[in-house]
Amino acid sequence: MTISLVDLETIVREAGQIALAYFKDLKNMAVHKKNPRDFVTAADLAVEAYLQTTLTEKYPEYGFWGEESGQSANQVSRWIVDPIDGTHSFSRGQYFWSISVALEIDGDLVAGAVYAPALDDYYTAAKGLGAFKNGVVIQVSDENNLADAMVATGFACLRSYLTENNLERFGRIAQRTTGQRRFGSAAMDLCLVADGQVDAFWEQELNLYDVAAGALIVQEAGGTVTDFKGNAGVFPKQILATNGKVLAEILTLM
Ligand code: IPD
Ligand code: CA
Ligand code: CA
Repeated sequence: MTISLVDLETIVREAGQIALAYFKDLKNMAVHKKNPRDFVTAADLAVEAYLQTTLTEKYPEYGFWGEESGQSANQVSRWIVDPIDGTHSFSRGQYFWSISVALEIDGDLVAGAVYAPALDDYYTAAKGLGAFKNGVVIQVSDENNLADAMVATGFACLRSYLTENNLERFGRIAQRTTGQRRFGSAAMDLCLVADGQVDAFWEQELNLYDVAAGALIVQEAGGTVTDFKGNAGVFPKQILATNGKVLAEILTLM
């Protein structure tokens, strides 16, 4: 069975409305700590419950893997969902958070959507059919000089208290680029690479639900998705997304 990107957008936008209802009433929203540096809110749970119910009812042949509810029995072909990517930002009333939904069939990412409800920006891609932002085709940037590039990263490694972390790598790259950003939503970071707003993004210690949709959107926008050694593919524990033109140079600093 194929899916309709139009139907997917309707479902993901409805999930965005659920999130926004909590976003407008944060003082009354329950927030829990999964670990000292990792949060889950009532909004995460409500959005994931809606997506799990809606997607599995409409597409019963596909399983479900959500960050908060875990994996259903069928993981051969599945929806991979982060209900709110950037929960910490969301919980503090910041605008940079997103809902990430990907469809993986037999290990192949075939469709993805990343929606930022507070910005009303909707990114989507289907394998072989291109990448879109609010219905308009998007492409990675033309920047081919790392010294003139803007890059983004994150520090999931510090959430996990890793001693082998991103701090020295960030220092090396920051001294060789013009702009550096830490937006707080890996799914959105990837979409900004796809949209040419930043030229590269990297992060360690993520999970597939953080990056599945965004990685497909980067690939369909003409970018590269590799590990820190340049091996092509989606490696959540070591993901590097670029416009392709700065890949060789940034790999020397990873
Ligand atoms: C987080 C965001 C953040 C990244 C963290 C992720 P969450 O997702 O993507 O940018 O640095 O490591 O866990 O926890 O808010 O869904
Ligand atoms: Ca996440
Ligand atoms: Ca999340």
